[in-house]
Amino acid sequence: MFVSHLECPKCKATFESEKPIQLCQCGSPLLVRYHMKKIAGSASKDALNSRKPDLWRYREFLPVRKEENIVSLGEGMTPLLRLTNLGHELGLPNLYLKDEGMIPTGTFKARGAAVGASRAKELGIKVLAMPTNGNAGGAWASYCAKAGIKAVIVMPKNAPAIHRREVAVTGADLFLVDGLISDAGQIVNRAVKKYGWFDASTLKEPYRIEGKKTMGFEIAEQLNWKLPDVIIYPTGGGVGIIGIYKGLKELEEIGWVDGRMPRLVAVQSTGCAPIVKAWEERRTESIFWQDAQTVAFGLTVPKPLGDFLVLEAIYNTKGCAIAVQDDDILKSQRMLATREGLFVCPEGAATLSAAMRLVREGWIKSQENVVLLNTGTGLKYPESVTVEFIELRPEEDLPEVE
Ligand SMILES: Cc1ncc(COP(=O)(O)O)c(C=O)c1O
Ligand SMILES: [Zn+2]
Repeated sequence: MFVSHLECPKCKATFESEKPIQLCQCGSPLLVRYHMKKIAGSASKDALNSRKPDLWRYREFLPVRKEENIVSLGEGMTPLLRLTNLGHELGLPNLYLKDEGMIPTGTFKARGAAVGASRAKELGIKVLAMPTNGNAGGAWASYCAKAGIKAVIVMPKNAPAIHRREVAVTGADLFLVDGLISDAGQIVNRAVKKYGWFDASTLKEPYRIEGKKTMGFEIAEQLNWKLPDVIIYPTGGGVGIIGIYKGLKELEEIGWVDGRMPRLVAVQSTGCAPIVKAWEERRTESIFWQDAQTVAFGLTVPKPLGDFLVLEAIYNTKGCAIAVQDDDILKSQRMLATREGLFVCPEGAATLSAAMRLVREGWIKSQENVVLLNTGTGLKYPESVTVEFIELRPEEDLPEVE
């Protein structure tokens, strides 16, 4: 285990890593820092070939000390698919989609939960609480069940109903709030103060990002350590994009990639786009988005705690932030299914809407390597698809196909 310390990206204060910890005293999230020279001396690309296809193959870059504390459901090494049909249609022959719909619990949230719950177990945490838009709650409830940690999950009443069941079946305590994730966050905040529970809210503990950064490692490895030109990410709380940026910087630091960072694109819905607004105004922090609402429910985060880190990742890579409309997101969801056989979640579909616009605007050039991040399976969002069908009586014949 090569963790050296925890660091505040805002005020640069440092903290030791072997005690449960939440935010810096200045209110910023903390980032895990490693002895990079030791990692460079110990890890190798060749060694990866003989390791299992899960995210623990990058164990030198991960914060868990003892193997026995690893809580795994087989997460990681999701496919990086070439979208040949859509690529042809869009004039983008090098268009890829990383499919996180294939991971335990059906979304990329499993990565953060696997590493977060493993580290919580290692640090002796018995009860944790978190607000969620649904997928993170499902993932953390599952990994906590395996880890023997009690999870208390608070989610908006409007979150897709599947998430309730996913949380409830694990035996976690579930509460619904008539409000947004920000309201759920306030409730959790009061409870952790009162009861002394660990707060596993987005970015209020440092280890979730470490799981998410493995998406960046995998993209690099799957493209034979040649980084793509553009990665397009559906951004809510921002941990995914912050994690990918952190992971790619670490690979750059130990010389596994050539240092040309992909341009990172944060996609949001026009119904909740605080990061896009901040980027358009060249600000370094976002402003609370009023009346947030979108079909891409995971993107309903009106004021991400890590907004400044998301914006830094975009600015430093010469990326951009783009808002797409809900009806466009649903069209893209259909397109991915009809052209590529992929039933993706609305959040993931938003990346295709963004790619199409960026190609039209000339921001993406036709020969560039572009990776869309599909963060979850459409199977968790059955109500996002309307179905028209003809009901038959048993004696009726099928019509000819058109
Ligand atoms: C399917 C899906 N995609 C994307 C996001 C946004 O993730 P992040 O918080 O990493 O920006 C979420 C968050 O709930 C989600 O559930
Ligand atoms: Zn600080």
